[in-house]
Amino acid sequence: MTSDATPSQRERARFGAESQKGLGGDLPQPFPRQIGPRAMEYLAEVVESGLTCDMVGRFEQAFAASHGVKHCIATPGCTPALAVLAAAFDFEPGDEVIVSSVTDFGTVQGLINAGYIPVFADTQPGTINIGPDTIEACISDRTRAILIVHMTGLICDMDPITELARRHDLVVYEDACQAIFGRYKGRWAGSLSTAGAFSFDSEKTMGSDVGGCILTDDDELAERARFVGQSRGGEMVEHFGRVHRVNGFAHRMTQSTAAITLAQLDIIQPQVAHIDRMIRLLHQLLDEIPGISALPIPDTVDVYSCWMAGFLIDPEQFSCDTEQFAARVAAAGIPGAGQARYYLLPAALPYLSEAAQQLRFPYSQPPATRTYRYDGDSCPEAQALLERYIRWSTFCERYEPHHCEQAAHIVRAVAEQVRR
Ligand SMILES: Cc1ncc(COP(=O)(O)O)c(C=O)c1O
Repeated sequence: MTSDATPSQRERARFGAESQKGLGGDLPQPFPRQIGPRAMEYLAEVVESGLTCDMVGRFEQAFAASHGVKHCIATPGCTPALAVLAAAFDFEPGDEVIVSSVTDFGTVQGLINAGYIPVFADTQPGTINIGPDTIEACISDRTRAILIVHMTGLICDMDPITELARRHDLVVYEDACQAIFGRYKGRWAGSLSTAGAFSFDSEKTMGSDVGGCILTDDDELAERARFVGQSRGGEMVEHFGRVHRVNGFAHRMTQSTAAITLAQLDIIQPQVAHIDRMIRLLHQLLDEIPGISALPIPDTVDVYSCWMAGFLIDPEQFSCDTEQFAARVAAAGIPGAGQARYYLLPAALPYLSEAAQQLRFPYSQPPATRTYRYDGDSCPEAQALLERYIRWSTFCERYEPHHCEQAAHIVRAVAEQVRR
C-alpha cells in the first residue's frame, strides 16, 4: 500500500534534542542532557584502545548487576530489543501476544515483524495501564505471551498478572522504557517477569544516545537473544564457515554508546529518586485543582520513575476541549504539553487494520479464532482516558519543588480561564 499523504504530511521523525528544539517556557527541559562525569574517560578508553576494549560487555555487566539480574544484552534501542525478544521466543506465525493498548509503536514493531498477532488489551478503568481483568478478556487458545508496558513510569500490578499468566501457561515480559529504575513492591521495573526491555534513547530518563537493552534471568533466552539478535542466527560449520539457522538480526549496541550509557548509569539512581519526589509533589498540587486529576500512583509503586508528567481534565467543568486546554497550557509555559491520542495504538495502525480486514498474512493463518479489529473503539476505556489526558515529556530530573508549583500554577490558571 502506498500512502496518499502529501510529502508534508508524511512524518519525518525528529529525534532527541531536535524533537524538543524551540519549545520555550522557563520550566526545565531535559536538553542539553546531563551526562555522567566519567563519560569522557569511558569514551577515551574506547578510542585509545583502538576499539579493542569491551565497553559493551562492561555496560551489560553493570546494568545487569544494578538490577540483580543475570543477563543484560545491549541493543541499539528498545524497538530492536523487543524485536529480538519476539524472535527469540520463537512462537508460530499467527500466535497472539496480548499487549497494552496505550503505548508507543516500538512496543509492537518486533512482534508484528515476527508474524505474531498483537491483541490490544484495554486499560483498567481510570488508569493508563492494562491489568489482570482486561488481559484475561483477551486470552484465547492462540495466546502465547503478554507484553506489559509501564506507561509514563507507572508500574503495572505485576503479581496478579504473573499469576494469571501462570494459570494459562503464558510468557510475561515488560517494555520498561518509561519506568527505568522504578520499583514495584521492592523490585525493579523490567525485572518483574521473564524479560524486560529498556530504551536509552536520548529523550528517555537514562538518556544516552540511540540505545537499549534486554534483561533476563533465563539462561536459554539470553543465549537465544544473542544468537538471533546479535549474531544474525549464524553458526560456524566445520570446513564451510558460517551458515544462518534463522533469519537473525545484527542489533548490537555500539562501543561509544555503551561508554555514554555506562556513564549515565553512574548518576541515574539519585536522579530517579529525585524524580519520584518531584512527581509525587506535582500530583498532589494538580489534584488540588477542581476538575483536574493526576493519574493515580498505586501503593505498589515504591518509586515512580516518571518519564512523562500529565493530568486528566473533567470535560464537564470546562468550556473548551482537551486539545484546546493543552494548547493553552503549552502557550502558558509548560513546554511540549499536548494531548496524545496517538498513544492509543490500535487506532494508530491503519496498515495492520487493513491486513486484518483483508485476512492477509498472518491473519490468514489457520486456525484463525476470531475477527481482529484495530481501532479506538476496540479499547473504549483507553480511548476515553486519552480523550481527557494531557501530558508533557519534558518533565525531567531538573524539576525542583518551585518548578512543580509553577507547572501546577499554569494548569490552575488555564482551568480558571476556561471554567464553565
Ligand atoms: C513505551 C515505549 N516503548 C518503546 C519505545 C521505543 O524505544 P526506542 O526509541 O529505544 O526504540 C518507546 C520510545 O518512546 C516507548 O516509550
